[in-house]
Amino acid sequence: MSDAKYPSDSEVIMTEIVLPQHTNALGTIFGGTVMGWIDIAAAIAARRHSGAVCVTASVDELHFLRPLKQGDIVNIRARLTAVHRTSCEVNVVVTAENPAKNEKFKTTDATLTFVAIDDKGKPIPMPMLLSKTEEDKAHLANSKIRKEHRESLRKALLKKP
Ligand SMILES: CC(C)(COP(=O)(O)OP(=O)(O)OC[C@H]1O[C@@H](n2cnc3c(N)ncnc32)[C@H](O)[C@@H]1OP(=O)(O)O)[C@@H](O)C(=O)NCCC(=O)NCCS
Repeated sequence: MSDAKYPSDSEVIMTEIVLPQHTNALGTIFGGTVMGWIDIAAAIAARRHSGAVCVTASVDELHFLRPLKQGDIVNIRARLTAVHRTSCEVNVVVTAENPAKNEKFKTTDATLTFVAIDDKGKPIPMPMLLSKTEEDKAHLANSKIRKEHRESLRKALLKKP
């Protein structure tokens, strides 16, 4: 396990553009395309932090607040908000910009959990997460409650036939 890091050390800013192949008959983007971009950006942040291969363990609530249209520029920001033992929590904010209309707006906000694994798929410890900004400190302070909620949901899902 390497040294502790700040969220800014692994932050990912990914930019995409909505192309015709990303859209449905209404000219707005498929939800799955945005989910794929979110997963990739978050996975890169987790990997930068841990140095190991990381798999997606879960995605918390995911809301599409406004549609993305063909030609929109999409900015995907992924930033670690907590690290536990072998897992980390990554917040992803998706914003769109339409330069022709001089518009910028938030479309999606999602929280994902990644687990660092070895070459046999066994979870391995992650470096600790340091915090400097008030925002990072607030995320860390509440992360235990969010983790407990996920754990109870996971247990219930495992029991369900
Ligand atoms: C994620 C995975 C590696 C966990 O393995 P496991 O043997 O169940 O591991 P454990 O029960 O020891 O849990 C390890 C960590 O993962 C966390 N975790 C496991 N499942 C989770 C879930 N559904 N949501 C959030 N966290 C989860 C645990 O809380 C624990 O965190 P901690 O060590 O930081 O406290 C395993 O369930 C897996 O491989 N899942 C499939 C992943 C996948 O294919 N993703 C899609 C493609 S990338």
